[in-house]
Amino acid sequence: MTKLVETLAEIRKKTAQARGEGRSIGFVPTMGALHDGHTALLHQCRRESNLAVASIFVNPTQFGPGEDFNRYPRTLPEDLERCLQAGIDLVFAPSPAELYPNGLGSTYAEVPNLTTCLEGASRPGHFRGVATVVLKLFLAVTPDRAYFGRKDYQQLLVIRRLVEDLLLPVEVRDHPTVREPDGLAMSSRNRYLSPDQRQKAGVLHHALVQARNAVLGGIHDADRVRQILHQTLESSEGVVVDYAEVADAQTLEPLDRLSERQAIALVAARLGATRLIDNMQLTE
Ligand code: PAJ
Repeated sequence: MTKLVETLAEIRKKTAQARGEGRSIGFVPTMGALHDGHTALLHQCRRESNLAVASIFVNPTQFGPGEDFNRYPRTLPEDLERCLQAGIDLVFAPSPAELYPNGLGSTYAEVPNLTTCLEGASRPGHFRGVATVVLKLFLAVTPDRAYFGRKDYQQLLVIRRLVEDLLLPVEVRDHPTVREPDGLAMSSRNRYLSPDQRQKAGVLHHALVQARNAVLGGIHDADRVRQILHQTLESSEGVVVDYAEVADAQTLEPLDRLSERQAIALVAARLGATRLIDNMQLTE
């Protein structure tokens, strides 16, 4: 049976109790509006832990002014049902006041390297909000393992670095991106898309596949791969590219040549007011 927990005091009590009984704690942080991508993380967490915990919290500090905080989908009853089906023991869904008792501008966590490029450049303050809330959630839930999707690749690297730098006793595990049949990465934001935009959104994945195929076909010039990404994305009317980058998969530094270092392609594009991101590893 899934139990809904809304206070810090109760989640602390429940996780301390489990820990006292020698149970291992797995944790999946989310912002809700759960889809099959989230469910894959929930299942992995359930399989690998004695106590499986998920959180549902639309974190105000990771949204910039003018972003979609107010219209972000909030679907708690459906989310709880999904957690129940996945066998999650506890769902922590606190109020903003519970996690930010002194307001949103209070003490924060910052991961300076890794956050100035890509999503960090397009969304100033975003990763500070993510790192801060994830740290707070880790302190509340005290997980042994926490699960993150590769869909938000830069976020995954930021969390790994946060854990390393602050010596947090949490093992970060990642899960491959779960996709729709046409390749579109599942995202809570996909529900903003009109049917026409939804059809066009498949081009993000298509562009990444084109880039990967070019690399497999022997192209090693990163600028040529960037060009393929841009051309493919821009071939779809109404798709506005925010970035299309080829970077070192560990440091996110832009690459010149795809040879020695592990490379990843990352894209962000807008369809109307909706901003979507995706990525794909280019080399092993
Ligand atoms: P949210 O967007 O709800 O995502 C929660 C987790 O699900 C993240 O680790 C994300 O990478 C993963 N996820 C989302 N779509 C996925 C997909 N298609 N395949 C695999 N995994 C997917 O990411 C956040 O929330 C927030 O920033 C959070 C970490 C909870 C901090 O507020």
